[in-house]
Amino acid sequence: MSLDVQKIRKNFPILQREVYDQPLVYLDNGASSQKPISVIETIDRYYRNEHSNIHRGVHYLSSTATDKYEQARKKVQTFLNAEHEHECLFTKGTTDGINLVAHSFGKKFLSPGDNVIISEMEHHSNIVPWQMICDEKGATLKVIPINDAGELLMDEYKKLLNDKTAIVSITHVSNTLGTINPIKEIIDLAHEKGAAVLIDGAQAVQHMAVDVRELDADFYTFSGHKMYGPTGVGILYGKEKWLNEMPPYQGGGDMIKTVTFEKTTYNELPHKFEAGTPNIVGGIGLGAAIDYMNSVGIDEIAAYEEEIKVAAHEALSAIDGLTIYGTANSKAAVFSFLLDGIHPYDAGTILDRLGIAIRTGHHCTEPLMARLGIPGTVRASFAFYNTMEEIDVLVAGIERVKKMFA
Ligand code: ALA
Repeated sequence: MSLDVQKIRKNFPILQREVYDQPLVYLDNGASSQKPISVIETIDRYYRNEHSNIHRGVHYLSSTATDKYEQARKKVQTFLNAEHEHECLFTKGTTDGINLVAHSFGKKFLSPGDNVIISEMEHHSNIVPWQMICDEKGATLKVIPINDAGELLMDEYKKLLNDKTAIVSITHVSNTLGTINPIKEIIDLAHEKGAAVLIDGAQAVQHMAVDVRELDADFYTFSGHKMYGPTGVGILYGKEKWLNEMPPYQGGGDMIKTVTFEKTTYNELPHKFEAGTPNIVGGIGLGAAIDYMNSVGIDEIAAYEEEIKVAAHEALSAIDGLTIYGTANSKAAVFSFLLDGIHPYDAGTILDRLGIAIRTGHHCTEPLMARLGIPGTVRASFAFYNTMEEIDVLVAGIERVKKMFA
């Protein structure tokens, strides 16, 4: 096995706890991951010793906090292999990043008659902001369909793309199906038509190395809390040339150069897009999460999660009456499933009582549920601190659910 999972689990205090007198089996990592001690201690230390507002004061604490925040941005730059630090904007999270691009890029570059392309497997946060800006601008939203395995129909994508496509916005990894989309090919095809591409990396960066320059992504966004960092912080990477041309998303402190009642001039990147006091501790905590992932090794994480995925797929497929939704060739360790005749909520409630945390419902992908013809699923989403034994506990739990409804 490529990494020492028992040693890793000791870094996550919450994984030692019990719920309902059962050891916690945490399989809701797609919703939010748990935090290692190094992240928790970074947050604690920051508030005990280091807090002040940033980019503002001349005093010691303000310049220390500013340095730490900007060092975290540098860590993000290296994490994504971005060309410039100022291409990495701190946001509230993935939803905020997508809204920023939809509204700012859309304001400048979307015209009536243009189109925006998304896919059938998108999270609501990668649908609704585009509907809003398309409505405002008289643009059309087009949707790439999927096959029954949950893979994008690339030939249909090619047919949707045309000279009127302003931007393509696609998830890297589906939160519901686990499908890993061929984003390099998606980006290259869009660029042939002169369209920009935003990748929603909320379910990707915690599982695999991402290189925005190799991908040639125009925008790439993700959240801190799904990659072992704090909630309320995320990143939007954007190519400098776009960010320079796009108008600010929000007005306020820090994003200006000069203000008079007649005219305001805007600050340089990244500050132009970071109005107001940011989530300072969130940014610094995200930097600590990146350090933690690097200390384990992103490639080691990916290799171990592949083993978990293969084992979980085998174990879940062997259960009578269980249907897995999302069987793409290329997928992450995310398993959406239904048990014959059992409502996902009932299954989730019983699993919860056994100490197993999974998510039930439509996973903020209602159009995908409509495509699959189901109201929702039970979803088990794994992280590199999950063990093979936890797969056995999940399987035993599912068997128990089945017995109770037999
Ligand atoms: N988008 C998150 C999930 O898939 C909340 O659970």
